[in-house]
Order: sequence, then structure tokens, then C-alpha cells
Amino acid sequence: MRKILSLLTVLGLVLILSVGTIGSAPADTIKIGVLGKSVHPYWAVVEQGMKDAAKLFPEVEATFYVPTTEDIQKQISTLESWIAQGFDGIAFAPSDPDAVISVIKDATERGIPTLTIDTDAPKTDRLLYMGTDNYTAGTIAGKKMAEVLGGEGQVVILTGSLTAMNSLQRIQGFKDALEGTDIEVLTTLNDREDAARSLANAEQALTTYPELDAFFGVYAYNGPAGAKALKGAGIDPGEIKVVCFDTTDEHLMLIDEGYIQATMGQRQYFMGYHSVSLFYLMAKENVDNVLMLLPRTEDGDIVVDTGVDVVTKDKLGWYCEQMDKWGVKSEFC
Ligand code: BGC
Repeated sequence: MRKILSLLTVLGLVLILSVGTIGSAPADTIKIGVLGKSVHPYWAVVEQGMKDAAKLFPEVEATFYVPTTEDIQKQISTLESWIAQGFDGIAFAPSDPDAVISVIKDATERGIPTLTIDTDAPKTDRLLYMGTDNYTAGTIAGKKMAEVLGGEGQVVILTGSLTAMNSLQRIQGFKDALEGTDIEVLTTLNDREDAARSLANAEQALTTYPELDAFFGVYAYNGPAGAKALKGAGIDPGEIKVVCFDTTDEHLMLIDEGYIQATMGQRQYFMGYHSVSLFYLMAKENVDNVLMLLPRTEDGDIVVDTGVDVVTKDKLGWYCEQMDKWGVKSEFC
């Protein structure tokens, strides 16, 4: 509750400040950058959130970029370019948290506030993390898997990174939740955020492990890749289970068809939206006054948790209502 109140206070201030600019002389442009991890409808929703928030503030010029697949060099060069252009705030989702330490230090030294979204980099100078609590979400996925498998079976994990913290935390949470069950994780297959490679990995797993009972899909395209491999192999919906992350139209359709049993929604719209609202406020107010309002963990770090929505077949109607409330468009709904 305190978290929600703090965010509401921040938003209240944002709106007061934005209304306060109406009718005044055009102010300096506030340049905000949002950097994602790979091209996918998941990130398109983050971009939509960023654009919707930017529309509220005429001075804001918001830029969004994602590499095609996992590409830390491209992420670093984008950050360098935004820093050189003197951006006023940068939100980033690093594919490798250690690789961005020095570029983020550079941003801080030049007075550019930064925050992580979607996946964290706590060793950098970033001011805060905003996104899903990935370890917790992984444990929720693990418990769901144990439930749909009735406590026993063999699972293959499909993921898009073995360096990004969100992937590692989800996998750790998932495995921890399976302790004490008779569920065995056979292997973890990395595709480096390449959906075609993920499909090939899932197809290969079906051949290599004829006793396979389930896929755990860590990134947005991994669950659908598992489901497509099952369809392609002529396996009936539900015969081999899929528990995964994210809620694109493709996920919702595959849940409806019975190929995916459960998926973890991340409310990523708000990662884009609040990156803009927070940086706007930091530019207008000052950084410390904004940070003061945000929730702190026990060790003093600032974490804005966007939450986890567990979507199953019986929750599809409810989830469509949520998306409608947020203004996130869906062909499925
Ligand atoms: C993750 C992102 C990733 C995306 C890939 C999401 O589940 O949170 O980090 O880039 O999947 O589509």
C-alpha cells in the first residue's frame, strides 16, 4: 500500500508540474531514452507506455530503441550516443549488467539520471530499478509448474540470456520452487533472444527427451516457441505443459487453445510510462526530491515493483479487462 501511495504522490506532482507549464513560454526540451533488449511485441508495449506518457508533457522528446536480438555492444553504443547527446534521463534494460558499469558511471558523472527497467544492474550507478521482481515471479512460475504437473515430471527451460539478471533470477526462483517435488530440470537452452533459435531448441528438446513433460519459457517468445514446437510435432494441447512469461496476443491465444497452461504478466506498459513520468519530474523538480518519494528496500535500494499477473485459461476475461483499463490494445481481447 505504501508503495502505491508513494507512486500516486509522484504522479500527482507530475501532473501539477505539467499543468503548471501550460501557457508559459516553451521550455527546453527534455530528452528521455528508453532502451530495451530485443525486437518483440513485449517491448512494443513498453514503447507504447513511453509514448503515451510523453504525450502528457509537451517538452518531452522520448526515444525508444531495441537491438534485433541480444546485443550488448549495440546497447552500449546506444547508451554512449544518448549520453553524448546530453539526454536528460535514460532507462535501460541491460543484457549483461556488468558490461554497462562504466558507461553508466559516465552518465552519472555527466549528471544524467539513469534507471533500470525489466532487468536490473545493481552494481551500476543507476538510481533505481523498476520492473517485475524476477526472482519472485520465477518462484510463482515454479509453483504453477508443480501444480500443472501434479508434482512430478521432466522439464526443459528455454531462455534468451544467461547473463541478464531477469533470466538468471527467474530460473533460480523457478528451480527453488521445485525443491521437494519430483520435478527434474533436464537442461537450460539459451537462444540469445532469437525466437527462431528458441523454436529450433524446443524442437530439438522434443527429440532428445522423449519423456519430456513440460517447457518453462523464461522470455516472452520462449513459451510460444515451446507451444509451436508441440503443434508442429502433432502433440495435443496440454499433453506436454508450457508455463512461461508475458502476455502478448500470441500467449493469450495459445492459452485459449490449451497449449500454454499459465503465463506471468509483467505490466511492462508501466515500465515505459513511468520512465517518462519519473524523468520528467526529475528534470523539473530535482532528482533527490523524486527519489525521496519512492519505496526503499531494507538495504536502502529503490525498487518500483510493477507486479506479476498470473494468467491461466479461466483468467483470460479478467486479464482482457485489465489491459482495457491500462489502454493496452489487444487483437485477442
Ligand atoms: C523479458 C525481456 C525480454 C523479452 C524478450 C521478457 O520476458 O522480460 O527481458 O527482452 O521477454 O521478448
